[in-house]
Amino acid sequence: MCGIVGVTGNDNAVSILLEGLQKLEYRGYDSAGIYVNDLNGQDYLVKEKGRIADLKKAVGPEVHGTAGIGHTRWATHGVVSVANAHPQYSEDHRFYLVHNGVIENFKELKASYLSDVSFESQTDTEVVVQLLDLFVRTEGLNTKDAFIKTLGLLEGSSYAFLLVDSEDPDTLYVAKNKSPLLIGVGEECNVVCSDALAMLNVTHEFLELHDGEVVTIKPKSVEIEDMDGNAVSRDTFHVDMDAQDTDKGTYPYYMLKEIDEQPNVMRKLAQAYTKESGDADIDPEIIEALKNADRIHIVGAGTSYHAGLVGKKMFEKLTHIPTEVHVASEFAYDDPLLTKNPFFIFLSQSGETADSREVLVNVNARGFKSLTITNVVNSTLSREANYTILLNAGPEIAVASTKAYTAQIAVEAILAKAVGVAKEQVIAEDFDIRQQLGLVATGMQAIIDEKETIEKLADQYFVNSNRAFYIGRGIDQTVSLESALKLKEISYVQAEGFASGELKHGTIALIEEGTPVVGIITQKKTAGLTRSNLQETQSRGAITLTIVRNGLKKEDDTIVIPDIDEMITPLLSVVPAQLLAYYTSLNKGLDVDRPRNLAKSVTVE
Ligand code: M6R
Repeated sequence: MCGIVGVTGNDNAVSILLEGLQKLEYRGYDSAGIYVNDLNGQDYLVKEKGRIADLKKAVGPEVHGTAGIGHTRWATHGVVSVANAHPQYSEDHRFYLVHNGVIENFKELKASYLSDVSFESQTDTEVVVQLLDLFVRTEGLNTKDAFIKTLGLLEGSSYAFLLVDSEDPDTLYVAKNKSPLLIGVGEECNVVCSDALAMLNVTHEFLELHDGEVVTIKPKSVEIEDMDGNAVSRDTFHVDMDAQDTDKGTYPYYMLKEIDEQPNVMRKLAQAYTKESGDADIDPEIIEALKNADRIHIVGAGTSYHAGLVGKKMFEKLTHIPTEVHVASEFAYDDPLLTKNPFFIFLSQSGETADSREVLVNVNARGFKSLTITNVVNSTLSREANYTILLNAGPEIAVASTKAYTAQIAVEAILAKAVGVAKEQVIAEDFDIRQQLGLVATGMQAIIDEKETIEKLADQYFVNSNRAFYIGRGIDQTVSLESALKLKEISYVQAEGFASGELKHGTIALIEEGTPVVGIITQKKTAGLTRSNLQETQSRGAITLTIVRNGLKKEDDTIVIPDIDEMITPLLSVVPAQLLAYYTSLNKGLDVDRPRNLAKSVTVE
């Protein structure tokens, strides 16, 4: 949610900032801007509404510099406009600031301190930069001390700030609270970014920044201090990823690339976390902690929450440990009755979701054990939990999550098997997870190879529809939720995922002539029931389609997926739904990867 970049000590500052912002566009794409300074008294501020491509067009050939900062915005305070785009600056144009997050008491600060200052934007960020400038002007503080004083006044806020003082422009100041920010250490220059992938063309060595620290960055030095001015030393970590890993190659959109990558991700996970014997290969400490838990709590948001719903079924079946799944934003402010020895599993592609982090902070405060399953090394949720298991899915750039969902389910399956075996609830040979993941990879490929057929279905039934339903029972119902989310977030078709038996208790009233209803049918026990519920909608004018496991197929079924163990069928049944959403969005002429109003990494609550 908002992307931040900065550089000092490089004559190509403009292109480093613009290319970095392009890589971070997934974090927000309402408007963007850069401030650069050539250290010879010439500086430039360029801001534009829209995408990074629009900003690039607005940056004229004269714009050059050695140091600078940049930002791509997902609006929180104030409409999408050039004035509200970042960088925000002080009235005297001395200080420039970019910000990711929300300052909750900005109105109070403005009223208490800044009644004489004229504002150009509606943002909370401008309040911060004007306040800092005020402390420099009226209290004679230097930039760093004014920055620290300002930070001390920000209540209950989440932020990542990158500040530059035009009177000392090759020094950048950085601080964060809850929001992510990294410092990249280069050969002759240093950089700042919200996500390492923005700066892989400059460096692979990064320093993580903790809450409550202020960092002063010059071309050849990085000085970390706590708020009392005590020096903090920290080693860099290496990010082992190629800049090309973040390109979409010949694909029209990242989403299609990421759907196509799923078979390979399944093979990689089998390689990383299972043994030749078919057993799981997971850190024994994690297994032990889970084995001793009297309840498992899975926490996530959006698609990750949906992956948690699948996880519950697998954990309960294989480990016999009661498992609850929580929407992070609800659980964070709930007052749950907890058992003596609960174990928390956080599912998060980005590892940065603020709603989930809020829960983790509470869990840590109460001393409970936790595991983060994430795609991003060194992400906040990974650092703050006791244990981490990586998804190894490669960067997921499209806003609509696809390969992270299937990777999360695969990891949950491996973990559930490992704990099940450790608790002697499952006999190792009964569920050969390595072999199953191999079948999943082959099955996914077979579905992906049929994408042209799925595109035709999208054209025929979804592109001109305002409403759609996915229905199913049990584990199929959880996939219906994810399938509906995919469709609505990128194609703007109002889609509902529903327990098929529940429709007749009210919602069936929404079925009209031509409403598409997709039944997901992969479980022997409930297949007939879901078929009857589909029939009920058809009798009321719906066009019914099916996603059916081969062993349960009937003559008129629409999409048939290969047979695998019933418990992990979501790994296959979701793939046609991902493709239906993709082609509906594509053929409606929408920006598949950058749907309106959304951003990939949601770092505000
Ligand atoms: O990074 P996370 O997995 O924590 O993100 C959670 C949700 O914001 C995310 O899954 C969102 O729902 C996706 N846009 C869905 O495609």
